[in-house]
Amino acid sequence: MNNYRFKDLPVCPDDPILELMVQAAADKNPHKVDLSAGVYKNDAGKTPILQAVQQAEVLRQQKEDTKSYLGLAGDLRFNSLVAEMVLGKGHPVFAEQRVCTLQTTGGSGAIRIAAELFKRIQRGARVWVGNPTWANHIPLLAAADLELLTYPYYRVGEAGVLFGEMMQALQAAEPGDLVLLQGSCHNPCGEDMTHDQWRQLADLLVERRLVPLVDAAYHGLAEPMDQDAFGWRHLASRVPEMLIAWSGSKNFSLYRDRAGALIAIAATPERTKAVMTNLMNISRVVYSVPPAHGAALVAEILADEQLHTIWQDELLTMRERIIGVRERFADELAAASACDRFEFVRHQKGMFSFMPLSSEQAQALRREHSVYLLDSGRINVAGITASSAEYVATAIARVI
Ligand code: LMR
Repeated sequence: MNNYRFKDLPVCPDDPILELMVQAAADKNPHKVDLSAGVYKNDAGKTPILQAVQQAEVLRQQKEDTKSYLGLAGDLRFNSLVAEMVLGKGHPVFAEQRVCTLQTTGGSGAIRIAAELFKRIQRGARVWVGNPTWANHIPLLAAADLELLTYPYYRVGEAGVLFGEMMQALQAAEPGDLVLLQGSCHNPCGEDMTHDQWRQLADLLVERRLVPLVDAAYHGLAEPMDQDAFGWRHLASRVPEMLIAWSGSKNFSLYRDRAGALIAIAATPERTKAVMTNLMNISRVVYSVPPAHGAALVAEILADEQLHTIWQDELLTMRERIIGVRERFADELAAASACDRFEFVRHQKGMFSFMPLSSEQAQALRREHSVYLLDSGRINVAGITASSAEYVATAIARVI
């Protein structure tokens, strides 16, 4: 009996995000509101399959003629269409042959592969992450034994990025350190850098020879695609080396189909080729080849003018709904709390904002009101509907 190995395994804590989503689904309270995982919902509280995706699925069913493996790079058509969309077709890095793309299992898969790449370059390589950042960034990077350091990014209850503090902290970074940044719709705080701040940051990255890893999981959900891409496109035109972890989960609403990409930019065409061989080699030892379906749908939509237009219209609907919900929710919070301390919600971007709550207050909201938010106070604004905005705002005012 004693040599059974699993007996030595500790019990892992619940995932702070996905576990809450499961708990919310099991809650029988008819007034429950799930604001846990970052999943877009329409005003009926549903995460619909996009029309563009449905039409692409029909086309795919007609065209798909094999279930054989993809190559290690994944779907090559997807890779090139996504890279062009993310960087912009005419970006100089294409003509310079300094870009390569690996299809990944969602944006998380891209970050994990990026972390493994850095582990290959230097065991215990250093990576700077914002405080706060997406809860899963830390374990994804730590799993590759990278050394994590933090820079201040946002203070709960305030508006705006702590840009001065962030720049100051990054002065302590050493050449070759990786800096994790978020492209748009910052997760978890909803505060994005201004164009001018991206420019200043680019100067610092160049000067200190730091390597940006940009998490672009919400491309097109704050502003139209090209505007949302400003920050990372600007960095790509300044720095010699860079990584972008892109996700089609949110903007194509393809969450469970795991359509993602890791785009790498290197200093020369030769180094780019070497990076690509490493990315494929890492993919081989992590999960071998990526799944085909979600990436094929994205490729179908990006390659077809009509489907592309339908998708862009649907993305606009998502974006506008989130802006409308923020307005409505800020009004409800002001009315319920009789103060303006929640005004920041109105202008933040994308799905997330922090409610200034203690973890006990967040737990009370779940327990007493069936409002599911993270212990950190992060809410998924896109989970609020016209019929739940007042209920959620009143519940928050009560626990405070
Ligand atoms: C979130 O932050 O809620 C989403 O990105 C879902 C996840 O995987 O955590």
